[in-house]
Amino acid sequence: MADKKPFYITTPIYYPSGNPHIGHCYTTIACDCVARMKRMQGYDVMFLTGTDEHGQKIEKKAQEEGTTPKAYVDAIVENFKKLWARLGISYDRYVRTTDDYHIKTVQNIFEKLYKDGWIYKSEYKGKYCTPCESFWTESQLVDGKCPDCGRDVTDASEEAYFFKLSHFAPKLKELLLDEEKNFLNPKSRVNEMIHNFIDPGLQDLCVSRTSFTWGIPVTFDEKHIVYVWIDALTNYISAMGFMNDTYNDYEKYWPADMHVMAKEIVRFHSLIWPSILMALGEPLPKKVYGHGWITFGDGGKMSKSKGNVIDPFVLCDRYGVDALRFHLLREMVFGSDMPYSNEMMFNRYNADLANDLGNLVSRTVAMAIKYFDGTLPVDKEFTDADNDLVSQLDALQPVVSEAFETCRFSDGLEAIFRVVARANKYIDENEPWKLAKDETAKPRLAAVLYNLLDAVRRVSILLTPVMPHTAPQIFEQIGATEENTGWYDSEKKYLLPADVTVKKGPVLFPRIDVEKELAELEALAPKKEEPASDLEPLKELTKFDNFAALDLRAVKVLECENVPKSDKLLKFKVNDGFGERQVLSGIAKYYKPEDLIGKTLAMIVNLEPRKMMGFESNGMILSVKHGDGYRVIEFPDSVKPGSDIS
Ligand code: MSP
Repeated sequence: MADKKPFYITTPIYYPSGNPHIGHCYTTIACDCVARMKRMQGYDVMFLTGTDEHGQKIEKKAQEEGTTPKAYVDAIVENFKKLWARLGISYDRYVRTTDDYHIKTVQNIFEKLYKDGWIYKSEYKGKYCTPCESFWTESQLVDGKCPDCGRDVTDASEEAYFFKLSHFAPKLKELLLDEEKNFLNPKSRVNEMIHNFIDPGLQDLCVSRTSFTWGIPVTFDEKHIVYVWIDALTNYISAMGFMNDTYNDYEKYWPADMHVMAKEIVRFHSLIWPSILMALGEPLPKKVYGHGWITFGDGGKMSKSKGNVIDPFVLCDRYGVDALRFHLLREMVFGSDMPYSNEMMFNRYNADLANDLGNLVSRTVAMAIKYFDGTLPVDKEFTDADNDLVSQLDALQPVVSEAFETCRFSDGLEAIFRVVARANKYIDENEPWKLAKDETAKPRLAAVLYNLLDAVRRVSILLTPVMPHTAPQIFEQIGATEENTGWYDSEKKYLLPADVTVKKGPVLFPRIDVEKELAELEALAPKKEEPASDLEPLKELTKFDNFAALDLRAVKVLECENVPKSDKLLKFKVNDGFGERQVLSGIAKYYKPEDLIGKTLAMIVNLEPRKMMGFESNGMILSVKHGDGYRVIEFPDSVKPGSDIS
């Protein structure tokens, strides 16, 4: 047997900074649909998904939950995998950027790019939020403030490595404009990339950081960790074994046939990723597809913080996995955003699935049982009245294949359901119930029912990648088997045996009572929270030892001054009873330095040293929230520096 042709498709690797939601479901279901279709078409498919587990956000979330970043992501990755299992996602490999082989690949790539002169060391300048310890770009700021905490940011810089992205601008433009390659879809994104990013001048890309630690260390300069895109994008090749020994599929599957994602990361996949690959001298992926967003009410990308997440598990449990898969793929028009609405899902479900497809199957099977005890006679009379339905079915497969493999799922499904509607019309035109009354019309009745069963077979084949759980149930009811349900069997008419036997099955798509379901879902939705108190919630109980591990002392302030270029930080010299030490505190907004000199304050003295704005801080001065600011905790002058606080 000839070797199967490889086909490689990827989802983005998702951030496990929170649980997966319906937005992640869309891309993953879309890729699953293509992967399933390609397998049915005889390809050797590699379908890759995974999680992008490094970065400051994860580090912080883990800290907030009092756990390690790895333990934090492990738990969320489990939830991603559970959801993919529930949705019937047939991925072949799951890459985690914390996997050893991935780390190895990233380090090797970084080293190679550095040695070859594509990465160089320089200074990263940005806006810095001291309390969040985060760098932001001007465009990330919200009203000029830190997008995370809303506080002021200051200009700051740190040493960093840069990738020579600017060098690739002409080649990227050529790639994007190459009509034959048709690299990036939809076309509107090509213009966006050229006008918004390439033409105004591509900047070199900062690819390392020193301000946090949850990431892959740069092997030749360990205080740096690889920053975001070299870590994330390379998953597509690390998981195939590029520059690591764990896998050995790079030659076979690379270049990828399709990278699928939503529009906000198209830039990274169509500018940065090809540039990295060009610098490595490796082939470029064949296609990048950037779909729109599933949005909610306010038009924004779905956000967990807005409390509008629709729980995909609940939707699957109540309406079936395939109904959700169908809904997302049917309603989202490739390239456009889709406002999420349960009502829309119910209406489409009732119209297409319950009425059109469900009825077609159940009426056809019921008539075959009623008129022929379930087994059609071989003697049939086909007529010209069958031609229109049959010719529509003949034309369907290439239309659907083309639509699905270019991410135009709604077009493909629309085409299928036009033919389903045609088949229902064929019932009305041929009135089997009238034919049944006339003994001499039995051969015609048998032909009509056979045409209908064959139509169900042919459309259901094409629906299999979208509804992989339902299609086999339909095949069972209409007496279709593996022999006549391969992808290309959809092109061929009359593959069912002439004396096919049908079998009554459960109702495939019970009608949804829209009003009732909407009310029930509403009742299930999380209640609006009470206005938040500005008090931090009480923490969980902890062992006394955790408290005892902290060394709390009274310290006397000897010197205090503002930190240059920071409107947050004060730099102190304090006497801790044993000697002098330097400590920084983010209270410059609430105190003038001179007001604090000579005061005796509370401090944790055994925290590991930390650098802030280039100064080392040895400990933490304690303060208490007071109105919109903070007050230091003061002791009377008579308290000796170094006195224990317990
Ligand atoms: N980790 C990066 C991607 C690195 S890929 C080398 C990332 N992760 S993410 O968790 O934010 O996932 C973004 C992707 O999830 C989108 O590009 C899209 O595929 C999917 N979606 C997340 N929310 C979505 C919607 N509301 N609507 C549609 N797709 C959405 O970016």
